[in-house]
Amino acid sequence: MRYVNNYANAKAQDYGLYEEGGPMPVGAIAAKESFVVSPNGKIGVGPLFLMAKQAAGSSPDTGDWYYTMILPNGAVQDAANIQKFCNDCHTIAGEDDDNLMFLPDEYRVSP
Ligand code: HEC
Repeated sequence: MRYVNNYANAKAQDYGLYEEGGPMPVGAIAAKESFVVSPNGKIGVGPLFLMAKQAAGSSPDTGDWYYTMILPNGAVQDAANIQKFCNDCHTIAGEDDDNLMFLPDEYRVSP
């Protein structure tokens, strides 16, 4: 089972408003740490996922988000194929939610 915690920097503070937050400003960063608990109770560290909002028009295909995944060994994954991989799923959230997926309702906490 994979567990995640999601965080936002000051510029992305409206992330805490979820669908009411509107589009994120340039410099907004969302971070998602992850860890995995195996059936025998062993805990493993998972990747750190990051989304950073770039200047308007810099990446129309991704809604100007720049996606990065940092593996537990420190390897940074942000090549073009990673941009596509992340964006292909995040784009499901749509422009209204600025490609942000948000946590399912039952896991949300109030700001
Ligand atoms: C198969 C679909 C899918 C793919 C591929 C995917 N994500 Fe996500 N991502 C989600 C969902 C669903 C959430 C919300 C639930 C959660 O946090 O796990 C999310 C949440 C996030 C968040 C927290 C902000 C938000 O949208 O609520 C970040 C940051 C993030 N993903 C980064 C990435 C990065 C970087 C990649 C590529 C390495 C990636 N994601 C690939 C589905 C995906």
